[in-house]
Amino acid sequence: MNDEIRCIGILTSGGDAPGMNACVRAAVRTALAQDLRVVGIRRGYEGLIEGDFVEMDGRSVSNIVQAGGTILKSARSPGMNDEHDTRIVGCPGTIDNDLFGTDDTIGYDTALNTAIDNIDRIRDTADAHDRLFLVEVMGRDAGFIALNSGIGGGAELVLIPETITQMSDIKDRIHSLMSAQSRSSIVVVAEGDEHGGATHIKEALQADDSFDNIDLRVCILGHTQRGGSPTARDRVLASRLGSAAIDALIEGHDTVMVGVVNKDIKLTPMRNVFGRKKNINYELLKLTQLLS
Ligand code: F6P
Repeated sequence: MNDEIRCIGILTSGGDAPGMNACVRAAVRTALAQDLRVVGIRRGYEGLIEGDFVEMDGRSVSNIVQAGGTILKSARSPGMNDEHDTRIVGCPGTIDNDLFGTDDTIGYDTALNTAIDNIDRIRDTADAHDRLFLVEVMGRDAGFIALNSGIGGGAELVLIPETITQMSDIKDRIHSLMSAQSRSSIVVVAEGDEHGGATHIKEALQADDSFDNIDLRVCILGHTQRGGSPTARDRVLASRLGSAAIDALIEGHDTVMVGVVNKDIKLTPMRNVFGRKKNINYELLKLTQLLS
């Protein structure tokens, strides 16, 4: 079965995501169990081009399953093209959860819990001071974190890149919230929302006299969402995917991504991963409106 592969290289690329280390650990140990040589490639595709390699054994991945970041370091490498003479199997690692071919990406659950934890904390101050908080969460192209943290954090309004919300509608909604309910509200804004993020929305609201009496604040959660120890869910997902990636390589697959769809491991050609958009659940968007 494994008469072709003798050595595998492992790298982490793009933005780091909690659970990447658990994935690396699983891949290294699964490969070693198949008597493969394992080479770590540092700094993503930059390290591949520059030959920044490190030999890996079982002990080199000890004590990392609980660690955020990536021991192999990472980089964004726009210069890398599709030409290569090795087989490639990818694991989906991004907090944004915007990859087609997997229900959840590695790091998403941790980021979501971090966002909700922060929204809970912000709500204490919003309540105590009757303030409106615009909380910006990550998601350059997708609203998965915003939508789900909005529901989990009980946000009064959620703004995401997948839907267009007119500024006049945002203003009306905030006015009705701040007068009808308590005098505090939380609006969760994905950084990729069409209004340009929480700071721009705050400026647009402050330019309108009708907001003079509303105490508006912005909190940008930023990279706090990318760091930290992975949740149990992310550790298990990452371990399954890291191990499945090695199985896929040994079985002869190439240029595919391993994902988990409906609880099962699934392989998706890379061209589909990057060529198709993963849709948000519009039922959840309706739910935020119903519950706020
Ligand atoms: O990894 C995806 C992401 O978290 C996006 O949501 C965000 O816009 C981006 O990374 C930030 O990347 P960087 O840390 O490279 O600025």
